[in-house]
Amino acid sequence: MVNTPQEQKRKAALAALEVIESGMKLGLGTGSTAAFMVRGLGQLYREHKLNDLICVPTSVATRNLAQEQGLPLTTINDVDRLDLTIDGTDEFDPQLNLIKGGGGALLREKIVASLSDRFVIIADASKEVDQLGRFPLPVEVVPFAWKTVARHIENSGIQALLRASMNPGDPYKTDQGNYILDLQTGGMPDLPKMKWMLEGLPGVVEHGLFLDMADEVFLGKEDRVERITK
Ligand code: 5RP
Repeated sequence: MVNTPQEQKRKAALAALEVIESGMKLGLGTGSTAAFMVRGLGQLYREHKLNDLICVPTSVATRNLAQEQGLPLTTINDVDRLDLTIDGTDEFDPQLNLIKGGGGALLREKIVASLSDRFVIIADASKEVDQLGRFPLPVEVVPFAWKTVARHIENSGIQALLRASMNPGDPYKTDQGNYILDLQTGGMPDLPKMKWMLEGLPGVVEHGLFLDMADEVFLGKEDRVERITK
Protein backbone atom coordinates (compact mmCIF):
# COMPACT_ATOMS: atom_id res chain seq x y z
CA MET A 1 0.00 0.00 0.00
CA VAL A 2 1.30 3.43 -0.98
CA ASN A 3 1.18 6.03 1.81
CA THR A 4 -0.90 9.11 0.97
CA PRO A 5 0.57 12.51 2.00
CA GLN A 6 -1.62 12.40 5.14
CA GLU A 7 -0.32 8.92 5.98
CA GLN A 8 3.23 10.10 5.35
CA LYS A 9 2.70 12.92 7.87
CA ARG A 10 1.13 10.60 10.43
CA LYS A 11 3.80 7.91 10.13
CA ALA A 12 6.66 10.43 10.29
CA ALA A 13 5.09 12.05 13.36
CA LEU A 14 4.59 8.75 15.16
CA ALA A 15 8.08 7.52 14.26
CA ALA A 16 9.60 10.67 15.79
CA LEU A 17 7.98 9.87 19.15
CA GLU A 18 10.74 7.34 19.67
CA VAL A 19 13.25 10.11 20.42
CA ILE A 20 11.18 11.34 23.38
CA GLU A 21 12.18 10.10 26.83
CA SER A 22 10.48 10.39 30.21
CA GLY A 23 11.51 13.50 32.14
CA MET A 24 12.06 15.63 29.03
CA LYS A 25 11.15 19.26 28.54
CA LEU A 26 9.56 19.35 25.11
CA GLY A 27 8.68 21.95 22.50
CA LEU A 28 5.53 21.08 20.56
CA GLY A 29 5.33 22.31 16.98
CA THR A 30 2.38 23.59 14.99
CA GLY A 31 0.55 22.34 11.89
CA SER A 32 -1.14 19.18 10.70
CA THR A 33 1.98 16.99 10.98
CA ALA A 34 2.77 18.29 14.46
CA ALA A 35 -0.87 17.63 15.44
CA PHE A 36 -0.36 13.90 14.71
CA MET A 37 2.70 14.02 16.98
CA VAL A 38 0.83 15.78 19.80
CA ARG A 39 -2.01 13.23 19.65
CA GLY A 40 0.46 10.33 19.67
CA LEU A 41 2.36 11.87 22.56
CA GLY A 42 -0.87 12.40 24.48
CA GLN A 43 -1.71 8.73 24.12
CA LEU A 44 1.74 7.59 25.33
CA TYR A 45 1.48 9.97 28.29
CA ARG A 46 -1.98 8.82 29.30
CA GLU A 47 -0.83 5.20 29.06
CA HIS A 48 2.13 6.08 31.35
CA LYS A 49 4.61 4.97 28.70
CA LEU A 50 6.17 8.44 29.01
CA ASN A 51 6.21 10.22 32.38
CA ASP A 52 7.32 13.51 33.96
CA LEU A 53 7.08 15.49 30.76
CA ILE A 54 6.68 19.23 30.57
CA CYS A 55 5.63 20.75 27.23
CA VAL A 56 5.85 24.20 25.64
CA PRO A 57 3.40 24.63 22.72
CA THR A 58 4.33 26.90 19.81
CA SER A 59 0.83 28.25 19.12
CA VAL A 60 -2.60 28.70 20.62
CA ALA A 61 -3.86 25.87 18.39
CA THR A 62 -1.19 23.48 19.66
CA ARG A 63 -1.77 24.55 23.24
CA ASN A 64 -5.49 23.77 22.88
CA LEU A 65 -4.77 20.38 21.33
CA ALA A 66 -2.15 19.50 23.95
CA GLN A 67 -4.55 20.51 26.71
CA GLU A 68 -7.23 18.28 25.20
CA GLN A 69 -4.71 15.45 25.22
CA GLY A 70 -4.02 15.98 28.93
CA LEU A 71 -0.35 16.89 28.42
CA PRO A 72 1.36 18.96 31.15
CA LEU A 73 2.04 22.45 29.82
CA THR A 74 4.15 25.43 30.70
CA THR A 75 5.33 28.57 28.90
CA ILE A 76 8.72 29.36 27.41
CA ASN A 77 9.25 32.00 30.11
CA ASP A 78 9.17 29.30 32.76
CA VAL A 79 11.97 27.13 31.37
CA ASP A 80 15.66 27.85 30.71
CA ARG A 81 16.15 25.25 28.01
CA LEU A 82 14.20 22.47 26.32
CA ASP A 83 15.60 19.00 25.67
CA LEU A 84 13.84 18.58 22.37
CA THR A 85 11.38 20.23 19.99
CA ILE A 86 9.49 18.32 17.31
CA ASP A 87 7.88 20.40 14.56
CA GLY A 88 6.72 20.26 10.97
CA THR A 89 8.10 22.25 8.04
CA ASP A 90 7.01 23.68 4.70
CA GLU A 91 10.28 22.81 2.97
CA PHE A 92 13.70 21.43 3.87
CA ASP A 93 16.87 21.31 1.76
CA PRO A 94 19.80 18.84 1.80
CA GLN A 95 21.52 20.86 4.57
CA LEU A 96 18.27 20.69 6.64
CA ASN A 97 17.63 24.41 6.25
CA LEU A 98 13.91 25.09 6.49
CA ILE A 99 11.08 27.33 5.39
CA LYS A 100 8.49 27.44 8.15
CA GLY A 101 5.45 29.55 8.90
CA GLY A 102 2.88 28.22 6.45
CA GLY A 103 0.66 27.81 9.50
CA GLY A 104 1.58 31.27 10.78
CA ALA A 105 3.40 30.17 13.95
CA LEU A 106 6.97 30.94 12.83
CA LEU A 107 7.78 33.42 15.58
CA ARG A 108 6.98 31.17 18.53
CA GLU A 109 8.33 28.18 16.61
CA LYS A 110 11.70 29.88 16.11
CA ILE A 111 11.93 31.01 19.72
CA VAL A 112 11.12 27.54 21.03
CA ALA A 113 13.46 25.80 18.55
CA SER A 114 16.31 28.16 19.40
CA LEU A 115 16.03 27.18 23.08
CA SER A 116 16.05 23.45 22.33
CA ASP A 117 19.06 21.16 22.59
CA ARG A 118 17.67 19.09 19.74
CA PHE A 119 15.32 20.17 16.94
CA VAL A 120 13.61 17.32 15.08
CA ILE A 121 11.51 17.86 11.95
CA ILE A 122 8.62 15.68 10.80
CA ALA A 123 7.52 15.92 7.18
CA ASP A 124 5.82 14.28 4.25
CA ALA A 125 7.73 13.70 1.00
CA SER A 126 6.47 16.90 -0.67
CA LYS A 127 8.57 18.98 1.75
CA GLU A 128 11.96 17.75 0.49
CA VAL A 129 13.53 20.17 -2.04
CA ASP A 130 16.95 20.79 -3.56
CA GLN A 131 16.68 24.53 -3.02
CA LEU A 132 14.34 26.44 -0.67
CA GLY A 133 11.86 28.87 -2.17
CA ARG A 134 9.20 27.14 -4.21
CA PHE A 135 7.03 27.59 -1.09
CA PRO A 136 6.41 31.28 -0.36
CA LEU A 137 8.62 32.56 2.46
CA PRO A 138 6.49 33.84 5.38
CA VAL A 139 7.63 37.06 7.02
CA GLU A 140 5.89 38.29 10.17
CA VAL A 141 5.54 42.08 10.23
CA VAL A 142 4.05 44.65 12.58
CA PRO A 143 0.69 45.89 11.19
CA PHE A 144 1.90 49.50 11.63
CA ALA A 145 4.52 49.10 8.91
CA TRP A 146 3.36 46.21 6.74
CA LYS A 147 3.10 48.23 3.55
CA THR A 148 6.47 49.88 4.10
CA VAL A 149 8.10 46.48 4.56
CA ALA A 150 6.25 45.03 1.55
CA ARG A 151 7.34 47.96 -0.62
CA HIS A 152 10.95 47.59 0.44
CA ILE A 153 10.93 43.88 -0.39
CA GLU A 154 9.19 44.46 -3.71
CA ASN A 155 11.86 47.03 -4.63
CA SER A 156 14.33 44.16 -4.51
CA GLY A 157 12.21 42.32 -7.10
CA ILE A 158 10.35 39.89 -4.84
CA GLN A 159 6.56 39.95 -4.68
CA ALA A 160 5.31 40.20 -1.06
CA LEU A 161 1.65 39.23 -0.61
CA LEU A 162 -0.25 40.12 2.55
CA ARG A 163 -1.73 36.87 3.89
CA ALA A 164 -5.53 36.92 3.97
CA SER A 165 -7.67 35.53 6.77
CA MET A 166 -10.88 33.51 6.47
CA ASN A 167 -12.84 36.77 6.82
CA PRO A 168 -12.94 38.41 3.41
CA GLY A 169 -11.03 41.70 3.48
CA ASP A 170 -9.28 41.04 6.80
CA PRO A 171 -5.57 40.19 6.90
CA TYR A 172 -4.51 37.01 8.70
CA LYS A 173 -3.30 37.77 12.24
CA THR A 174 -0.68 35.71 14.05
CA ASP A 175 -0.96 34.68 17.71
CA GLN A 176 1.08 37.84 18.43
CA GLY A 177 -1.38 40.06 16.54
CA ASN A 178 1.00 40.66 13.63
CA TYR A 179 0.53 40.26 9.87
CA ILE A 180 2.30 37.91 7.49
CA LEU A 181 3.79 38.71 4.10
CA ASP A 182 4.29 35.67 1.87
CA LEU A 183 7.34 36.27 -0.31
CA GLN A 184 7.22 34.74 -3.78
CA THR A 185 10.95 34.19 -4.12
CA GLY A 186 10.73 31.40 -6.71
CA GLY A 187 13.95 29.95 -5.24
CA MET A 188 16.68 31.24 -2.94
CA PRO A 189 20.20 30.42 -4.11
CA ASP A 190 21.71 32.72 -1.44
CA LEU A 191 19.98 31.97 1.88
CA PRO A 192 22.31 34.01 4.17
CA LYS A 193 21.78 37.06 1.94
CA MET A 194 17.98 36.73 2.17
CA LYS A 195 18.18 36.27 5.96
CA TRP A 196 20.46 39.30 6.27
CA MET A 197 18.14 41.44 4.11
CA LEU A 198 15.04 40.55 6.14
CA GLU A 199 16.71 40.93 9.53
CA GLY A 200 17.84 44.43 8.59
CA LEU A 201 14.33 45.67 7.84
CA PRO A 202 12.61 47.65 10.60
CA GLY A 203 9.05 46.32 10.96
CA VAL A 204 10.03 42.69 10.37
CA VAL A 205 9.36 40.72 13.54
CA GLU A 206 10.60 37.34 12.28
CA HIS A 207 10.97 35.35 9.08
CA GLY A 208 10.43 31.74 8.21
CA LEU A 209 14.02 30.86 7.25
CA PHE A 210 15.35 28.42 9.83
CA LEU A 211 19.00 28.11 8.78
CA ASP A 212 21.26 25.55 10.42
CA MET A 213 18.76 24.85 13.20
CA ALA A 214 17.29 21.39 12.47
CA ASP A 215 19.25 18.34 13.62
CA GLU A 216 17.20 15.62 12.03
CA VAL A 217 14.21 14.97 9.74
CA PHE A 218 11.76 12.09 9.95
CA LEU A 219 10.56 11.99 6.37
CA GLY A 220 7.37 10.11 5.54
CA LYS A 221 7.63 8.56 2.08
CA GLU A 222 5.26 6.47 -0.04
CA ASP A 223 6.67 3.22 1.34
CA ARG A 224 8.54 4.05 4.58
CA VAL A 225 9.82 6.67 7.00
CA GLU A 226 13.38 7.78 6.33
CA ARG A 227 15.53 9.33 9.03
CA ILE A 228 17.86 12.06 7.72
CA THR A 229 20.54 13.47 10.01
CA LYS A 230 23.14 16.15 9.40
C1 5RP B 1 3.50 26.39 11.02
C2 5RP B 1 4.54 25.61 10.36
C3 5RP B 1 4.20 24.20 10.00
O1 5RP B 1 5.10 23.37 10.64
C4 5RP B 1 4.30 24.03 8.52
O2 5RP B 1 3.42 24.96 7.90
C5 5RP B 1 3.92 22.61 8.08
O3 5RP B 1 2.58 22.39 8.26
P1 5RP B 1 1.90 21.00 7.97
O4 5RP B 1 2.47 20.01 8.93
O5 5RP B 1 0.43 21.25 8.20
O6 5RP B 1 2.18 20.64 6.53
O7 5RP B 1 5.64 26.06 10.11
O8 5RP B 1 3.89 27.71 11.22
